[in-house]
Amino acid sequence: MRRLPKLPGTLFERHEITVEADIFRARQTVGRAMDALEAKVIRKTRLVTAVSEIFRNGLIYGGGAVVIIHCDEDDRMVWIDCRDTGPGIVDMELALSDGYTSGGGLGRGLGGAKRLSDEFEIVSEPGVGTQVRLAGRA
Ligand SMILES: Nc1ncnc2c1ncn2[C@@H]1O[C@H](COP(=O)(O)OP(=O)(O)OP(=O)(O)O)[C@@H](O)[C@H]1O
Ligand SMILES: [Mg+2]
Repeated sequence: MRRLPKLPGTLFERHEITVEADIFRARQTVGRAMDALEAKVIRKTRLVTAVSEIFRNGLIYGGGAVVIIHCDEDDRMVWIDCRDTGPGIVDMELALSDGYTSGGGLGRGLGGAKRLSDEFEIVSEPGVGTQVRLAGRA
């Protein structure tokens, strides 16, 4: 699978998401990373909401995920990579469109996360996995 280039900034924390409670811990950490950059509450809330959707997808569809959180103090950005080795996404355009779900959800997670982020990129290969990268400006 094509891998995205190295994340900007420096490592803040790394999390493994294997159970529901891990989603909460990882999203808290994203919030703390935004706090470290003295982010406005609205910006922090947007990014935390976006990553929650991505982490949940990683758990539900990816069967678990590894999350890397970076802080870029120069750009005042928090970057997040969420990688899984699940079944991947065959039709990316369809998956990103609002209302499409393969799992009985609302189908709004990916589109919503993209709209809430300042940077958003996703690469996936069927049978190999999915990598979602997003960032929010503090
Ligand atoms: N990490 C992933 N691995 C494989 N498929 C994924 C992954 N993330 C998303 N998908 C696919 O993309 C679809 C759309 O995802 P999206 O998050 O937008 O909606 P949803 O999870 O189905 O519903 P919800 O609105 O509750 O998030 C999913 O139903 C699933 O088929
Ligand atoms: Mg979802």
